[in-house]
Amino acid sequence: MTAPRPADEPLLRIERLSVRFFVRTSFFATRPIAAVSDVDLDIATGETVALVGESGSGKTTLGRATVHLVPISSGRIVFEGTDIGALDDRELRAFRQRAQVIFQDPFSSLSPYMRVGEIVEEPLVIHGPRSRAERSARVLAALEQVKLSPAAEFAETYPHTLSGGQRQRVSIARAMVLGPDYLVADEPVSMIDASSRAEILYLLKDLQAQRRLTFLYITHDLASARHFADRIAVMYAGRIVELAPAGQLVGEACHPYTKALLAAVPEPDPGNRLRQRAVVGGEPPDAGALPAGCAFHPRCPVAIAGTCERIIPPLVELGSGHQVACHLYPVGGGDGEGSVGSADGSATGDPWGDGLAEADSMTSSAARMPGSSDSG
Ligand SMILES: Nc1ncnc2c1ncn2[C@@H]1O[C@H](COP(=O)(O)OP(=O)(O)OP(=O)(O)O)[C@@H](O)[C@H]1O
Ligand code: SF4
Ligand SMILES: [Mg+2]
Repeated sequence: MTAPRPADEPLLRIERLSVRFFVRTSFFATRPIAAVSDVDLDIATGETVALVGESGSGKTTLGRATVHLVPISSGRIVFEGTDIGALDDRELRAFRQRAQVIFQDPFSSLSPYMRVGEIVEEPLVIHGPRSRAERSARVLAALEQVKLSPAAEFAETYPHTLSGGQRQRVSIARAMVLGPDYLVADEPVSMIDASSRAEILYLLKDLQAQRRLTFLYITHDLASARHFADRIAVMYAGRIVELAPAGQLVGEACHPYTKALLAAVPEPDPGNRLRQRAVVGGEPPDAGALPAGCAFHPRCPVAIAGTCERIIPPLVELGSGHQVACHLYPVGGGDGEGSVGSADGSATGDPWGDGLAEADSMTSSAARMPGSSDSG
């Protein structure tokens, strides 16, 4: 996959986006859940940005917010220069044709009572051409595009007769049939058998190359993110804590959380399978009761006492599009509010330094392996 840089006018611009859910705790009381907080991210036409992070870090919520599937609490989603929050119903329908989602679970996301042809045709019935003949032609073309061939036969089958990989191809055909420009792929291979995962990822890459699609690829798996994405954004507790070109993020990770994720990447070499792997210690925080300051501080072995538990670190540009939110990387290189600690972690030690180099080589080899896949 080529690595286009974000243009001045990105296809999608996420500006200071926050999403709060309110969960009822009693008849009178609700509790806010900070699912996404203050996210800024531009995605260029034809670019793939991967969102990685542990469960509950806000990946799905952010992805769904970009296609107007969850209400935004503050901030904006700007698609081709237009704030999608300001669209009227007609404009929103037009936007939905251009922005589609591939869901994680191809078993529950396809109606068992509809034939594959009807499932793929459904978006066309809602948004597409009125002529049945044209709709049929587009359904067959979409099935061919995802390599469900002969398309006419697959169109007549029901989802329960298909493998997980074939079902996910149906989901992709349904997402592609309207000719979208932007796709959110939310852990598209995590629930299908290992042998089909690489095929599905390569299919998505092929479609992207043919159609110049723009992707938000959500995954737990850094190895597939490295392989599939141009840039990787690491999320923790609803915030982007590190963002960089994929190779740079894997090879030169700065944030202690990213380093921990990399050190925990599973060993691809069967001969080294039993080697002890570093894990990210502790549990991800409750989004309804996030720690003050840097939300990672209770788990961070290099936390700076007096700073990290008080001040939320801003996302700081380190150069070449590499951004990190950590007080070890102070704003302005030492003059900002978070100007404590050292940028290379040397003052406080870097317990993952060795693990990172090791994880990097493993991740690189994992990324080369067609079988590298989601773990979530
Ligand atoms: N509809 C909802 N109502 C209340 N809380 C929600 C809702 N959707 C998500 N959340 C909460 O928001 C936070 C972020 O959830 P989200 O599903 O976006 O995380 P994720 O990174 O996609 O996790 P996973 O890797 O498990 O899919 C979590 O604490 C989750 O429980
Ligand atoms: S801001 Fe502090 S607690 Fe957070 S990752 Fe950086 S050093 Fe660790
Ligand atoms: Mg999710």
